[in-house]
Amino acid sequence: MSAPAHSPRLLRVAEALPLSSGVRVIEFGCGPGALARAIAARIGDGHVLGVDRSAKAITLAEAACRKEIAAGRLSLRLCAVEAFALAPGEPAYDLAIAVRVGALDGRHPEVEAQALRRIAAALTPEGRLVVEQGGTLEELPTPRCTVARNPSKPTVRPPVHESHKIYYGTRYLTFG
Ligand SMILES: C[S@@+](CC[C@H](N)C(=O)[O-])C[C@H]1O[C@@H](n2cnc3c(N)ncnc32)[C@H](O)[C@@H]1O
Repeated sequence: MSAPAHSPRLLRVAEALPLSSGVRVIEFGCGPGALARAIAARIGDGHVLGVDRSAKAITLAEAACRKEIAAGRLSLRLCAVEAFALAPGEPAYDLAIAVRVGALDGRHPEVEAQALRRIAAALTPEGRLVVEQGGTLEELPTPRCTVARNPSKPTVRPPVHESHKIYYGTRYLTFG
């Protein structure tokens, strides 16, 4: 498993995402870290967490993202998306992205449902999830999150009414 220093495919994804300074992003299935690195370069003092269930992927990403990790703009975690949970005290994320990750490609409905619950619980109430499969970026609605991040103040995630299909390269990403 390896990735070129600059993958044009992943750079197109980074350019299509709604990134801005200070945003917190989580990438599931980050592989060797090429997209996480491209995101880190576009979020100012924000933070990107790359998550992968493969120890080999995380080791490669650690090597490829050394500079961003040292700067505190990127971190990595060995975990499956369907088992992910925020660490104690870890702030929620504004945006989740998964590129070519089997658990979110519709082939494994039970795993996907579990993954969506875990992702929803890791996002802010306004947080959004974007997945890429076969060259298409799609915003997926996440299930209502009734997970209490603060036991004295339970969080209920508002429903997401729309999903947006985005074909980057031929059409611009439009987030409602
Ligand atoms: C096809 S590779 C894509 C890597 C990268 N996103 C890209 O587009 O170049 C899929 C990656 O997702 C990881 N992955 C697959 N299933 C996963 C899961 N359930 N949870 C976390 N990572 C997973 C794999 O270990 C692998 O690194």
